[in-house]
Amino acid sequence: MTQSASHAITMSDREFQAISDIAYKEAGLVFMPEKVSLVQSRINRRLRQLKINSFSDYTAFVQSEQGIAERKAMISSLTTNVSNFFRESHHFDILKEKVFPNLLSRAHAGGRVRLWSAGCSTGQEPYSIAMTLLDFAPDAPTMDIKILATDIDPNVISTAKQGFYETGALNELCESFQDQFTETAENGRKSGFRMTPVIRSMVSFRELNLLSQWPFSGNFDVTFCRNVVIYFDEATQMSLWPRFESVTAPDGWLFLGHSERFSERLETKFVTNGATAYQRAAHTDTRNLK
Ligand SMILES: C[S@@+](CC[C@H](N)C(=O)[O-])C[C@H]1O[C@@H](n2cnc3c(N)ncnc32)[C@H](O)[C@@H]1O
Repeated sequence: MTQSASHAITMSDREFQAISDIAYKEAGLVFMPEKVSLVQSRINRRLRQLKINSFSDYTAFVQSEQGIAERKAMISSLTTNVSNFFRESHHFDILKEKVFPNLLSRAHAGGRVRLWSAGCSTGQEPYSIAMTLLDFAPDAPTMDIKILATDIDPNVISTAKQGFYETGALNELCESFQDQFTETAENGRKSGFRMTPVIRSMVSFRELNLLSQWPFSGNFDVTFCRNVVIYFDEATQMSLWPRFESVTAPDGWLFLGHSERFSERLETKFVTNGATAYQRAAHTDTRNLK
C-alpha cells in the first residue's frame, strides 16, 4: 500500500508479521496481533522520515545490508521506554536494608562493588540506585563502586546520559533528594532539572542488546532488569535467566519488574528474598525456585 504525505498507511497482516519477525529476531520483542495499530503508527513514522511508500519496501530495506542502521532505528521506534524515578520503590528499601550494608562494608575495606541496570531506558532507574547509594554512604564516590546502565535503544541512552528531566518528574523524588541530587536546568525550550554531576558520574551508560553477547564476564552484586523481559516470550526469558545467574556474584541480587517471574520449571541458584527480588544463594544447593 502507498501513502500521501499526511496519511498513514494501513498495515496488512502479512506486513505486520514481517515487521514482528524482525523485531523478534533482532531484539526478542514479541508483538501480539492486537498490537497492530501501535506497530503501524510507529513504523509509519519511520516511513515518513525515510520517504518510503510501502511496508514491503521498508521491510526489504531493513533486511538489506544497507539497512543495518534502519534496523536499529526500527527497534528504537518499537521499544516501550516508560520509566520513573523510584518505580517499584520497595526494591530501593531492600537495597538500603538488606543489600547496601554488606556491600558498603566490603567497599570500605577496599573491595569492589558492581551494579547493573539492564534495560535502563532514560536513566531514572540507575539514577535512583545512585541516589539511594549516595544517601546511604556519602563517601561512595571515593570507593570502587560502579553502576553500569545499558539499553538496546541508543536514543534513550543519549537522553539518560544528559540526566535532564522535565519538571513534572520532580515529584517522583522526595524533597531531600530533590535538594541534594538535582539542580534546576533548561534543555532547549524545556525547563526541568538535571541530576547533579556527582550522581551522573556514578553511572556509566552503554548500548547493549540483551540478546547479544555481553561484553563482560560479570560478578555483579546487584542487577536490576525490570519491566524488560515482559516484552519477551518464554523461550527468550528462559535463555536469559542462566545468563543473569552466571554474571551474578555469590550472594548477588537480581530485581525484576512486578509482573515478571522466574519460570518455576527453572533450576536456579536464585532464591526469593522479597517481592520480585532474588538473591543468589552462594552456599546452598541448586534448587527449584518457588
Ligand atoms: C519499560 S522500559 C523499563 C525501564 C526501567 N527498567 C524501568 O523499570 O523503569 C523497557 C526497556 O527495555 C529496553 N529493551 C527492550 N528490549 C531490549 C533488549 N533486547 N535488550 C536491551 N534492552 C531492551 C527498551 O529499550 C526499554 O528502554
